[in-house]
Parts: sequence; C-alpha cells; structure tokens
Amino acid sequence: MTAVGIDGIEIWSGKLSLDLPEEFAPVMDDDPEKYTKGLGLFQSSFPDAYEDIVTMAANAAYRLIERKDIDPADVGRIDVATESAFDKSKPVSTYVAGALERVLDGEFRHANKGERKFACISGTQALNDAMNWIAAGRNRGRGAIVIATDTALYERGDPGEATQGAGAVAMYVTEDPSIVELSMEQGFGSVDETDFLKPNQQFPSVDGKRSMQVYLARMREALEDFESVTGKSHPEDYRFIPFHTPFPNMVRKAAVLGYRHMIRDTDIEDELAAEIGRQPRPEEYEDDEAFSEDIQAYMDALSETEAYREWYERTIEPTLDISSRVGNWYTSSVHLARLSALIYAKREGIDLAGETLLVGSYGSGAQAEIHEERVVEGWESEIDGDSVDELLAARHPITFEEYERVHDQHNHAKEKTLEPFTAPEGEFVFDGWGPMNERQ
Ligand code: CAA
Repeated sequence: MTAVGIDGIEIWSGKLSLDLPEEFAPVMDDDPEKYTKGLGLFQSSFPDAYEDIVTMAANAAYRLIERKDIDPADVGRIDVATESAFDKSKPVSTYVAGALERVLDGEFRHANKGERKFACISGTQALNDAMNWIAAGRNRGRGAIVIATDTALYERGDPGEATQGAGAVAMYVTEDPSIVELSMEQGFGSVDETDFLKPNQQFPSVDGKRSMQVYLARMREALEDFESVTGKSHPEDYRFIPFHTPFPNMVRKAAVLGYRHMIRDTDIEDELAAEIGRQPRPEEYEDDEAFSEDIQAYMDALSETEAYREWYERTIEPTLDISSRVGNWYTSSVHLARLSALIYAKREGIDLAGETLLVGSYGSGAQAEIHEERVVEGWESEIDGDSVDELLAARHPITFEEYERVHDQHNHAKEKTLEPFTAPEGEFVFDGWGPMNERQ
C-alpha cells in the first residue's frame, strides 16, 4: 500500500503573549515556580483584536501553501479541527477556504470541506480522516490540508486560566510524504466522561484534577489497545514520544506511567530490580488501594533512576519546547509536540530517517488515541525551527491589565471594543461578519 503521511507543517500563533512568572503569578499571589516548575509553562499566546480561529487557521494554511507551493487544484480535502467553533452549521473549513481563495490563484471548489469536534483529539481525528481517504484510494492523486485551530480560554479565576493559549497548526497530508508516514494501526481508550465540557457555553466547565486522572487512564488504555495490535512496546522502540500537552507537566506525569508500563517484563525491569525492586503486579494484590500505593511508590522510585531520566531527557523533553512557550492550543497541541521534537532533532543533527515516533493524542469527554509515525528520508529540509522562533519572538507582550481586556474581547458575550496592540502585516484579519478575514 502507498505510504501516507505528513508532507508539510506550518503554525500560526496568536500575536500576543502573556508572561506567566512575570505578569500572571504576582497578580495571583503565587510563587512563579508554580507555573515554570509545577506546570512547565512560561508564556501563553493570545489573539490580537483582529484575530480569531479563522484568521489563525488561514494564516497557518497560507504559510503551508506558500512553503509547499500547493496548487488549490491539487487539494481534495480541507479538514478543520476545533473546539472553539462559532457556527453550528457552516463548518470553519468553509470560512478558511473562502479567506484563502480571496488571495490565492485558484479555488478549492472540488475539495471536501468539514469540521471535526472531539475536544483536543479532533486534530488527530482529522489527520486520520485524511489518511484513510488517501489510503482508500479516493483522493484522485490529491492531498489534504488538515488544520487544527483554537482559542483556549477558561473563565477568569478558573485554575485552568494559567494553561490558556491560542494558535493553529496546518498540515499537508499526501501520498509519499516528506516528513512522516502514519501507521495504519491505532489504539484507543474511550469512555463517556464529564471532566471538561462546554454545553452551549464559551468557557469550559472543568474538574481539573479529575481531568488529569482521566487523561492518564485513557492514555494507558489506548497504549494497551495499541499493543494488542502491534505487540508489546519497549521504551527503546521510539526516538520521540509526542503526546497531547495541555501543559508540559501533564506529559511528565504520563511519561513515567508509560515507561513503567513499557519496561514490564523486559531487560530494563530486570536491570533496575537490584536498585528499586520489581514493579508490583495487580494480580498479586487482593486490595486495590494497597496496589495503588505500591505502584505509586515504585513509579516515584523509577522516576529517580538514571535509566528513566536518560530516556525521559532523550525521548520526551524535546517534545515540550513550543508548548512551554505558547500554552495549550487544544487541537494543535500534540502536533506542536511532534514539531518541537523534529526541530530539536534537526538542530542537534540527529539522523532521524527511519526512526519511529509514538504519538499520543487525547480529547476530554474522553478519548485517547495512540499511533506510530515513521520519519522519512529528507525530513529535515521540511522543518524550519527558525521561522517558528521568529513567529513566537514577534508576539507582542501584554501586561496583566491588558490581558484582562483581551480576555473580555474574546468572550463572545461581550462587545468588541479592544484596540489592537499590533498592526497586521500580510496576514488575514477578522473584519466582522459578511465578507470576512481579508488578507491585508
Ligand atoms: N514550585 C514548584 N511546583 C509547584 C509550586 C511551586 N512553588 N506550587 C505548586 N506547584 C506544583 C503543584 O505541586 C502541582 O504539581 P503536581 O501536580 O505534580 O502536584 C502543580 O504545581 C500545579 O499546582 P496545583 O495543582 O496547585 O495547580 P492548580 O490546582 O491551580 O491547577 C490544573 C492545576 C488543575 C491542572 C489546572 O491548571 C487546570 O484545571 N487545567 C485545565 C485542565 C487541564 O489542563 N487538564 C489536563 C488533562 S485534560 C486535557 O488534557 C484536555 C485539555 O487539553 C484541557
């Protein structure tokens, strides 16, 4: 079967940034290290007054189209994933395609356009839709533009406020891709949950602590389901493990759990036995609570071992860079994690061709999905870390008082009165309903 995967990746960040230790922590009367060490976050991105999910998506897609020199006639699908949609009928992909067509030479008239929703995992679901469409041979040789775009806002005062963010990732999915091939095998963990939801409301109702437990439980189930198809995984099978990153420390918690799971009955568990013992097995316990306590103690000890630390530094830490500088971009977050790892690998001169990534996506409500990606020869010519750094460095820093006004502006219920902080330059801008999102 023809290989299908990601041929190009571009991002767009909301043009404002809030420094968490400098601006947010003092007003919250918190130790700045709660954010930098406790959550692993330094800054959040926010949209300026003329930005929304459509402009951010169109700007990311435009950068992708320019870089890859994509002819609209060669695009058979435009899929947009978002959990910040403003229209219950017309999909965001049509707004984005319309905006792009106003400046491109060509139309997406014969492209299938849709919108995917399942909290943060829908970016990966849209990627899978595109992959399946190509693998089924229904694409007539054409590619798919897959965009994940969100403004992740919480109610003022909600503990989630520190993890906010805004931006978009656009990916080109094709046959014979230039960056990674996607595996056909997938694992899922999915249970009806109410830890994070937005029923006809803009800001989420969140049980933050429970949402972390649900994330870990569904990811573990997805990994087990994946292994039921592919066979047991070993920590050394994967060069990088990009996971959905609501905040970097969520992934740090998932990492030790995943490592513990993967080393069970392996040479690594044997080697570590002298230092920290063997991990407890549930079948050895009659009492669930006693097992939970012992397995937690084992994981605490495991996380201090050199073997784990070395693996974590090599496999997980490089995936967290962009996230720590922009906050949670919901549907884009796992795709930023993959991009962070690829940028790191290129800068370090790591030969990734033929290496495998284990990608873990998660959406509240709740579902986790695990799949593999194989990095292809020549991947590094498609990855441009400097352009990501330039985009993030160009963000306009805002004070806490300015942040309060920005938050109000992006609260759908309130009037739009905010004066922009920046001037748009060669980008799509929101200019009201009707003909909208012109590139200026
Ligand atoms: N120095 C170092 N660390 C510190 C510190 C200090 N001075 N002060 C606090 N910390 C640590 C805490 O010990 C804690 O670490 P542990 O979790 O390892 O114990 C961490 O900093 C955070 O502190 P709190 O637990 O006190 O933080 P909080 O209760 O104010 O908020 C949160 C944390 C519940 C995750 C909140 O940010 C939240 O609700 N976020 C939104 C929900 C979310 O992101 N959930 C993730 C899973 S769901 C998902 O992934 C979908 C999605 O995208 C939303």
